[in-house]
Amino acid sequence: MVLIYFAGIDLGSTMTKVVIVDEDDQTKASVVYHTGAEHRRLANRVMEESLAKANLSIDDISFVMATGYGRINVPFADRQITELSCHARGVASFFPHVRLAIDIGGQDAKGLKTRDGKLLDFVMSDKCAAGTGRFLEVISAALGLKIEDLGDISLRSTQKVSVSSTCTVFAQQEVVNHLSEGVPLEDVIAGLHDAIAGRSARMVNRLKVEPDVVFTGGVAKNVGVVKALEENLGCPVLVPEEPLLSGAIGAALLGKEHVLKALARGETIQTGKRRLEEATFFK
Ligand SMILES: Nc1ncnc2c1ncn2[C@@H]1O[C@H](COP(=O)(O)OP(=O)(O)O)[C@@H](O)[C@H]1O
Ligand SMILES: [Mg+2]
Repeated sequence: MVLIYFAGIDLGSTMTKVVIVDEDDQTKASVVYHTGAEHRRLANRVMEESLAKANLSIDDISFVMATGYGRINVPFADRQITELSCHARGVASFFPHVRLAIDIGGQDAKGLKTRDGKLLDFVMSDKCAAGTGRFLEVISAALGLKIEDLGDISLRSTQKVSVSSTCTVFAQQEVVNHLSEGVPLEDVIAGLHDAIAGRSARMVNRLKVEPDVVFTGGVAKNVGVVKALEENLGCPVLVPEEPLLSGAIGAALLGKEHVLKALARGETIQTGKRRLEEATFFK
């Protein structure tokens, strides 16, 4: 049996994600890194690391699909594709009945109306840090807290406060004022989560909110935002086991589907040889 593998790389504003899937759509390896400044070098590094994890070489990969905000900086990619299509495809691979997907990443928040892995409509907010992961990053850094601890802290809240500023800088000031007035930290953090969830809930209102609703992106790792989103939407919100990877998985699967369609038309597909040379070149 010839084993065939496909890679998806999602070079996001904040995190870079790579997933390698096999011909049965099973994940063989995944790697997540902070994006940083040197996109090409990073793309190469995450790819090499995921190949090593899967015990494969670049020649074993039939197709590399790149997505995300830095997708043009993936020198070994066979093709680039927009994030929206990849998220729609990726989310459906975890939850086939998804109708509304909400992705909150480091720099934007998106709502996707989907059916059977296809994108039907979308809304997006990317003009401002408020309502994105950056909002939580800035405020947690100012408070000396780790971003991964915010969720658990907020679950202890009994009376969340309102954080009403629509600007990240002013919201940070509001948080400091609440704390100086003696409001417990957990109630302030719960208020922040409610603010970010409320923005997304209002944004996706234009799309019909119907189950299954799935939440992805790095912010979906925060259980406090998941809970606040459920409260704001008034329905359950599903989160994949690794919400960061939905775009990269979607990219890998769309790459596979592209190859299958090309083969069905009798076309040949490119081998991995060129990509290996280019990838090494950028080390
Ligand atoms: N372990 C974690 N716990 C909570 N939040 C996280 C965690 N890891 C990342 N995040 C949040 O996810 C954001 C990045 O999400 P991601 O979907 O990778 O964005 P992008 O695709 O724009 O790079 C960060 O800004 C941070 O707020
Ligand atoms: Mg993203």
